[in-house]
Amino acid sequence: MTPAPRVRRATEDDIPGIRAVLAETWRDTYGAFLPPEAIERAIAAWHTPRVLAAELARASTFAAVAEGDTGIVGVVTARGRPEVVEIARLYVRPGAQRRGTGGRLLAAALAAFPGRRRARLEVEAQNAKGRAFYLEAGFVAVGERSVEVSGTALRLIVMELETGAAGDRQDTPR
Ligand SMILES: CC(C)(COP(=O)(O)OP(=O)(O)OC[C@H]1O[C@@H](n2cnc3c(N)ncnc32)[C@H](O)[C@@H]1OP(=O)(O)O)[C@@H](O)C(=O)NCCC(=O)NCCS
Repeated sequence: MTPAPRVRRATEDDIPGIRAVLAETWRDTYGAFLPPEAIERAIAAWHTPRVLAAELARASTFAAVAEGDTGIVGVVTARGRPEVVEIARLYVRPGAQRRGTGGRLLAAALAAFPGRRRARLEVEAQNAKGRAFYLEAGFVAVGERSVEVSGTALRLIVMELETGAAGDRQDTPR
């Protein structure tokens, strides 16, 4: 059996692999409800080496990759706020999904901010995979908001998880 991808902190050297995962998984995930040009515009604007390098360098951000035999298959980015961990991105290549990698990336992101009381994220309402994954992980819907991506209106579901970590350990903002 192929060993499970190893989850580790991301470095600048990982940027090409991260971009490949984001591009493939974005097309697969959002292709059903966003026009191809909107997806390509978003990828071109939001996943540039410069944007990703700035993200990796941000002290309040934790970024990890899951690396298998064939290279990087998953990525997570999370931001530490005073009481909340915000999961900003979580993507696993379509061919590598349903093997526990998403769960391990999410666990690594939560573990990176041990003092936080809650975790929060936004998932597109039509993203059935993402919603099923987060529900299974214990997140509950707490609200929603609308956004526009390259001219297409999307509905984002805000989900939260009580991590119960408050007071367990010292809360050091990072
Ligand atoms: C969401 C995502 C990161 C999950 O990654 P993954 O590696 O497949 O997740 P796991 O294997 O750890 O799944 C854990 C559990 O979540 C649930 N789950 C995951 N994918 C699911 C799906 N497609 N349908 C239903 N349940 C699902 C299952 O209960 C699964 O356990 P099981 O496989 O034993 O039944 C991945 O599907 C993905 O990258 N999706 C596209 C991007 C995305 O939606 N990101 C999140 C929103 S920003």
